[in-house]
Amino acid sequence: MSIGLLLLLIIVGSPVNADGPVCPPTPSNKLSRAHFPEGFLFGTATAAYQVEGAVNETCRGPSVWDIYCKKYPEKCNGDNGTQAVEFFYRYKEDVQLMKNLNTDAFRLSISWTRIFPRIIPFVTVFHWDTPQSLENEYGGFLSANIVKDFREYAEYVFQEYGGKVKHWITFNEPWVFAHAGYDVGKKAPGRCSPYAKERTVKGECLGGRSGYEAYLVSHNLLNAHAEAVEAFRQCEKCKGGKIGIAHSPAWFEPHDFKDAQNGATVDHIVGHRLPKFTTEQKAKLRNSADFVGINYYTSTFSNHMEKPNHAELRFKQDSLVEWKDKNINEVSIGSKPATAELAVYSRGFRKVLKYVKDKYANPEIIIMENGYGEKLGDNDTVAVGTADYNRETYLKRHLLSMYEAICEDKVNVTGYFVWSLLDNFEWQEGFKTRFGLYYIDFKNNLTRHEKVSGKYYREFLSQGVRPSAIKKDEL
Ligand code: BGC
Repeated sequence: MSIGLLLLLIIVGSPVNADGPVCPPTPSNKLSRAHFPEGFLFGTATAAYQVEGAVNETCRGPSVWDIYCKKYPEKCNGDNGTQAVEFFYRYKEDVQLMKNLNTDAFRLSISWTRIFPRIIPFVTVFHWDTPQSLENEYGGFLSANIVKDFREYAEYVFQEYGGKVKHWITFNEPWVFAHAGYDVGKKAPGRCSPYAKERTVKGECLGGRSGYEAYLVSHNLLNAHAEAVEAFRQCEKCKGGKIGIAHSPAWFEPHDFKDAQNGATVDHIVGHRLPKFTTEQKAKLRNSADFVGINYYTSTFSNHMEKPNHAELRFKQDSLVEWKDKNINEVSIGSKPATAELAVYSRGFRKVLKYVKDKYANPEIIIMENGYGEKLGDNDTVAVGTADYNRETYLKRHLLSMYEAICEDKVNVTGYFVWSLLDNFEWQEGFKTRFGLYYIDFKNNLTRHEKVSGKYYREFLSQGVRPSAIKKDEL
């Protein structure tokens, strides 16, 4: 098969007709790749800062996370980031892990792009690691200056890699970036108003104004996204590629069985705090995604907030949605194993996909992250960590929900990435929360061990490999 045809197959993705995705006649055996439409891509995901390490190697400059964790290790659960240093040297080993898993694709960050001959790279341009130099110079995403600089950076990576990399994501989880970094201060740069500081945040807010900054940051980020997309579409060697953005929509079940809100209109509540887009900016933002990336982990109950505190303005409060762990009958959502980071509620996955289909005119959707985090504490050994039956169950349930969304609700989902290939640096949780299909033995030269969940995914993917997937290996 020629490279041209191969690329075409990849770009066309899964077949869709007027009735939506074309699913194979339901195989009778247990759920596997064979149940999904031809051309559907399965992969694993990582992000540069979380696996790369080597903070002082080559010409890499510090990012906000390096400085944040180094200066305030308590805000990163005692880890200062440097432990990941050796990950940098394991490209070959990790590509082999992906091949062992039978995955088609890998979501990665740009510094990893050189090395994936037989795996389709999906590259995220920005996954939260703002250069510290820009943070010092003008406040990073707080300033409109970031828009021009981000475009320049994106243009550079498109020129460098756009010929080979055909799937791009501009930003990872804008809402989390704005909320965690500038509303409740739990992620770098750790900014918040003292009244909005999240319970889990160690130390003080590092400056900030919760009811304002998250909007400013979101505004500048969206303009930066639109500029990057324009640059991508003007880039000759990027032709035939696709670009999108990865969101993390929460799914809310009603706390008291009244209608819950998702995507409420907030402009009349936020008023002058909401920066306005110019006509030109709006035009650039319109149609600025070829597909929508969705990261899904968990769901929550929600209630209409009756009494917002107007004296203590907050980004999260402005939607007038109160997030609740339990419903009115004191029942928790889904199930939550003792070591789990978040509740497991796969029904929310199917529902959020259907919601996006109906609400946003049936866009192409790619699941950029889905996974299970656990904190093993004192029991954290290779034996315990690799016996991750809870993660296996999580994946089974979520793959089933996604299958139902695609084949029953006809949601146009064309790819799925497990977060994550490896245990990695989990932001404010440091290395203590694990998400990988491979266990990393931090005490023993960072060796990789396949977990039960990795074996499950490998076997799931070994069934029903279609010609289009096999041909990739002939390259
Ligand atoms: C982020 C990842 C993170 C994961 C698990 C996502 O919100 O994109 O970087 O590791 O959640 O917390």
